[in-house]
Amino acid sequence: MAELEKTLALIKPDAVRAGKAQEIMQLIELNGFTIIAKQKMQLTKIRAEEFYGEHKGKEFFPKLVNFMTSGPIWALVLAKPGAILAWRALMGPTNVFKARAEQPKCLRALYGTDGTQNATHGSDSPASASREIKFFFSALSPAPVTEPAAAADY
Ligand code: PPS
Repeated sequence: MAELEKTLALIKPDAVRAGKAQEIMQLIELNGFTIIAKQKMQLTKIRAEEFYGEHKGKEFFPKLVNFMTSGPIWALVLAKPGAILAWRALMGPTNVFKARAEQPKCLRALYGTDGTQNATHGSDSPASASREIKFFFSALSPAPVTEPAAAADY
């Protein structure tokens, strides 16, 4: 059996505000992911700046932090073989306008709003998945990103 991999997904404030969070979670499961942890929360400015720390100093950083603190988000841990790449593929391109032009059925094309508000986030590597899962779900932190255990073991 292929090894399960875990990734961190966020449903961002624009999609939550639009009432689309449950629909997105259904699509996630229809695409073969298991949601092994989920939590609705409001990010503070300090937490958002820490989460996106690698982008500090970039021109878009203040806009990104403002957006991510503008309302509740859902943080999810998704599991399936190849989850990191599979989730990024399901989300589609970062920029919503590019997503709509190139992959009209991807989540960002369907649920994103504009160049800042793009509905979802996903870890971009095993190292960032490990950090980001820990960031939102510290109780899961001892678990590695990739492991053979079944999702139901959680
Ligand atoms: S970079 O510079 O290539 O590393 O940036 P990128 O990977 O494209 O995006 C990193 C995160 O920043 C968000 N982003 C923006 N937010 C607001 N405004 C603008 N213009 C903008 N450009 C990029 C982008 O959505 C990424 O956030 P996540 O949550 O990872 O999707």
